[in-house]
Amino acid sequence: MVTYYKKTNGEGVQVEDTRIAVIMVGLPARGKSLIAQKVVRYLAWLSISAKAFNVGSYRRADTPQPTADFFDTTNTDGERLRHAAAEAAVADMIKWFNNDYGVVAILDATNSTKARRRWVKQRCDANNIETLYVESKCDQEELIMSNIMEVKTTSPDYKGQDPEAAAKDFRNRIRNYEKVYQTIDEDEKDLTYVKLIDVGGQVIINQIKDYLQSRVVYYLMNLHIKPRSIWLSRHGESNFNLEGKIGGDADISVRGEMYAKALPDLVASSVAPDQKLTIWTSTLKRTIQTARFLAASPKGYDKLEWKALDELDSGVCDGLTYQEIADRYPEDFRARDDDKYNYRYRGGESYRDVVIRLEPIIMELERSENIIIVTHQAVLRCIYAYYMNVPQEQSPWMEVPLHTLIKLTPRAYSTEEVRFKGNIPAVSTFRTKGSTAKHQ
Ligand code: F6P
Repeated sequence: MVTYYKKTNGEGVQVEDTRIAVIMVGLPARGKSLIAQKVVRYLAWLSISAKAFNVGSYRRADTPQPTADFFDTTNTDGERLRHAAAEAAVADMIKWFNNDYGVVAILDATNSTKARRRWVKQRCDANNIETLYVESKCDQEELIMSNIMEVKTTSPDYKGQDPEAAAKDFRNRIRNYEKVYQTIDEDEKDLTYVKLIDVGGQVIINQIKDYLQSRVVYYLMNLHIKPRSIWLSRHGESNFNLEGKIGGDADISVRGEMYAKALPDLVASSVAPDQKLTIWTSTLKRTIQTARFLAASPKGYDKLEWKALDELDSGVCDGLTYQEIADRYPEDFRARDDDKYNYRYRGGESYRDVVIRLEPIIMELERSENIIIVTHQAVLRCIYAYYMNVPQEQSPWMEVPLHTLIKLTPRAYSTEEVRFKGNIPAVSTFRTKGSTAKHQ
């Protein structure tokens, strides 16, 4: 088989010699675009080249604001333009695989008939691209309605229009699709597919062929769309932080202790009174000490310690200051500044390694509801990068101050962020490129 993608440094996720087109299937307002965006973000986070091709955006080039009758299959003009849009998206998708070494593409459209699905498959087969169909089937009126209101009334298709009229027209558009929609069934047993029924409710899987497909499927299986938030905090200031030393397993400082005591109120100010919350910490003392008052709060939050949340392992540099590292290992110090994401400490880890070990955490987070994670600078950067889609070259350089609580709330197309300051002073452990200063 031809090799389309290979990691040359032997690090990170091993991807087989596969190229996969993930073909979304389902009526409008079933969360297809949301799922597509999430898969792209997840794979990009794991360094797997992924891109979504949204047929609606291609259609908008010719027909920016169609009314529902455009989607009536008896409307021949509409049919022609819609097919042209699908054709353009598929052609660009194939070009991307061939020219840009793409690994996973998501064709984000309704692909609601068997004929359309066959057509896409033929195009992909002819180019040696595997197809994985992902159908989102949902009949829960409440979910559909909230999707219509939240997503579709803010869609460019209805820009500048009265939201009520837009929602009504959109309902009619859905009706037109319903007339021809064919769910994936027995006749399509030869297809590789996943049927997500009420996202997170029931999953039907058919003919999964390889490792990469199974990873995408596993991710999809863990998704749910219940509203929830994730809170991120570094541990309170530690004695190592005061000395400018990295790594170790130090206790928190007097000010770190003040933050630990302040944390329950800080959290309470951003959690609804009836919301359940679970606390995750690393196995290192500074996070456990920081979370202990929160864990003892009368709310009775559950608590879990994860080894995977331990700080980036700095190997032979553990316990040193940045100045000591620059003195003892000048080449390493420079190499880290040149490519901080990929630099692996001697006998330790790189940011890339941390992302790989955090994958089960991300998976568990997707499955869970409200979680507060008390962890460390590098680990927090990696988790934050997943939610906020931060590129790899930027994520290790992000400033994440001590004594600050970050609340992330996943929304339809983005993640909302709010920061709560503990108002307890702490040193800054943020280091700019080239600097060996103890504190900024
Ligand atoms: O300084 C605190 C700390 O958590 C260290 O233990 C860790 O090595 C470092 O931050 C990670 O940050 P950076 O990658 O910027 O050195």
